[in-house]
Amino acid sequence: MQRESDVAPVRGSLDKLMGKVLADHGLDLRQYRKRYVERRVAVRLNALGLHTYHQYAAHLDAHPDEYHRLLDTLTINVTQFFRDPEVFTLFREQVLPTVVQAKLARRQRILRVWSAGCATGEEAYSLAMSLLDAVDRTGASTIIPTVIGTDIDRSALATAKKAEYPVRQLAHIPQHDQMRYLDIGADTFHMKQKVRDIVRFQYLNLFESAPIHGVDVVFCRNVFIYFNKADQERLIRAFWESLTRGGYLVLGRSERLSPEVSGAFELVDGRQRTYRKPTGLQRA
Ligand SMILES: C[S@@+](CC[C@H](N)C(=O)[O-])C[C@H]1O[C@@H](n2cnc3c(N)ncnc32)[C@H](O)[C@@H]1O
Repeated sequence: MQRESDVAPVRGSLDKLMGKVLADHGLDLRQYRKRYVERRVAVRLNALGLHTYHQYAAHLDAHPDEYHRLLDTLTINVTQFFRDPEVFTLFREQVLPTVVQAKLARRQRILRVWSAGCATGEEAYSLAMSLLDAVDRTGASTIIPTVIGTDIDRSALATAKKAEYPVRQLAHIPQHDQMRYLDIGADTFHMKQKVRDIVRFQYLNLFESAPIHGVDVVFCRNVFIYFNKADQERLIRAFWESLTRGGYLVLGRSERLSPEVSGAFELVDGRQRTYRKPTGLQRA
């Protein structure tokens, strides 16, 4: 079987193609690792039977729809409910009780969790179910839990907003959450209104859109793995600004803070890639 990396070498300049995509569509592919862009564009060249970036640029001009396919190919939005369950256990049992206590001590009501790069919404709804559960269990009835799910992929966001998923995905959702937070049909299930009420989805390009402020927990998992090192660090600094003091940052299993930015965070759990912004001031 042919692998993406086996695709015949492509002549012409990838930089030129990236410049064209930026000029025509405003999408700056330099945010991604170059090798990653090469591999993903190769997938499109293969699919179209093309051999050079030059041919692909001409194809983009002749078939404007191709841009959306390229975007789909780049923004792989594989996800699932409670992806890496141990992270959600830590979130529910350690992170949330601490955040709730801090909110109560500061007499603040709104607790904001941000799923940055939320794809089709499973992560955001997993966070919402965990939040409702934590607020219930701590009896913190004054706390107003909220989740903001953001992504660059508008069709993934449309799926997220529908809040309807095939029943095969139930396998990833704990039984007690299924009973309390889902309406289950024959082929699909829906998130109950009380879950939907606390989740909001919006388009947001992590490199171009205005930052979100006052966030207590940022989940940015399996997103920045695709970005180059400089942009990863830029993003971490932006998350640091977004977080409240003592707020948490949770990354994906294969992602970690580089030494250049790790000093600005306390390590909560290395295996679960969970970090905390110190309660004192100390810039990233
Ligand atoms: C692999 S999914 C991760 C979904 C979820 N966080 C998880 O871990 O299951 C990566 C998501 O990041 C989004 N993404 C990629 N580049 C982005 C950017 N510059 N701004 C916002 N979202 C981006 C993609 O559209 C995709 O939905």
